[in-house]
Amino acid sequence: MRMYDIIQKKRNGGALSEAEIHWVIENYVTGNIPDYQVAALCMAIYFRGMNLEETTALTFAVRDSGERLDFSDIKGLRVDKHSTGGVGDKTSLIVAPIVASFGVKVAKMSGRGLGHTGGTIDKLEAIPGFQTDLPVEKFKEIVNDIGIAIVGQNAELAPADKLLYALRDVTATVDSLPLIVSSIMGKKLAADDDCIVLDVKTGSGSFMKTAEKSRELAEWMVAIGKKAGKRMRALITDMDRPLGFAIGNSLEVVEAIRTLQGKGPQDLTELCVALAAHILELAEKGNYAACEKMVRGAIADGTGLQMLARMVKAQGGNDDWILHPEKFPTAKYSRIVTAQEDGYIVGVDTEGYGVASLLLGAGRNTKEDVIDFAAGIVLKAKTGDFVKAGDPIAVLYSDKESGFDNAETRLRAATRIGKEKPREMPLILDVVQ
Ligand code: URA
Repeated sequence: MRMYDIIQKKRNGGALSEAEIHWVIENYVTGNIPDYQVAALCMAIYFRGMNLEETTALTFAVRDSGERLDFSDIKGLRVDKHSTGGVGDKTSLIVAPIVASFGVKVAKMSGRGLGHTGGTIDKLEAIPGFQTDLPVEKFKEIVNDIGIAIVGQNAELAPADKLLYALRDVTATVDSLPLIVSSIMGKKLAADDDCIVLDVKTGSGSFMKTAEKSRELAEWMVAIGKKAGKRMRALITDMDRPLGFAIGNSLEVVEAIRTLQGKGPQDLTELCVALAAHILELAEKGNYAACEKMVRGAIADGTGLQMLARMVKAQGGNDDWILHPEKFPTAKYSRIVTAQEDGYIVGVDTEGYGVASLLLGAGRNTKEDVIDFAAGIVLKAKTGDFVKAGDPIAVLYSDKESGFDNAETRLRAATRIGKEKPREMPLILDVVQ
């Protein structure tokens, strides 16, 4: 086979065979195909797309590009939850301990922030001492002992995705449906969970900006997961506004703790309840209504929070901070951003909010950047709220003053104020199963 012919075939709108797709991935990982040819193929895929058969072959090729984990020595049903990426999305920190408190096993591998979106691993590292890089045997031991562990992705797992993602990130080919499906599901299938619930984000803060595209993404991921023998479900959820009020690592951990204490923002609480109830239903813990009641109970009686504290302790973190979140340090500097006119917040460009948070130091602009865990944004008004000129719409936090001007400009540009109260949009648009 020749890479040139494969690029040309896709460029001309042809469908690649399973053999061609596996050949590309194997030879890319072993270094036989250079980045520039794979970048050209990604761009051809971006414009020409891939059918479901090609996308399935690409997903399985990514899954098989490295080590596949064996969790068979973890006793009990293993569940995972994965978000396609959003702003202020701290649901894993809430949902995972809640479901673990009902005896399903959460052996979860999570990612770091990508582009304007945050990542669970960066958030967990805001907890002092918390280790996200554990040997697989230790990880499985913790899951067997307490029911839950969340670690960063093992370097051997789906190495093709690591290479492809880095390439897509710099060649404007991230937001391609087949490339997202194969990236997410390739990694998920290389781990060894029985049930996977996906939170497929849609709207201005997600990689898929329209409901139609997000639905297609959800349907394809569910279909491919089922083909691989997994119990699958996907919720399509709104990312046209940030989730909750906090954006930024420590700020989000504290908001997650408040939510597990029953004092969280309504949107975040409702989404977490739904995700956890769907996971428990998929794990056959009862029908949806019963599972929802169980989840609300675990928030009301603090069982979910206790489970988060146990996980933090087992992974070397300071669990005292989980029980006393006021111990998380606040940033050295803050700035209040106020409304310049009276009116309703009619809509926001959520990606702009994510970028503003990056500019404050909450994420990375280059791989080498060190995160300022206390940096980020706390929203004081969200879509649908009425503000008067001079009212605060957000508070920015950072350990460096230099990012404030750009972050404020970005946040203002991303906030639309108008005279008409906008229509209320549902948080959960659909469930695909
Ligand atoms: N998350 C991933 O892991 N990969 C993508 O392509 C998009 C979101």
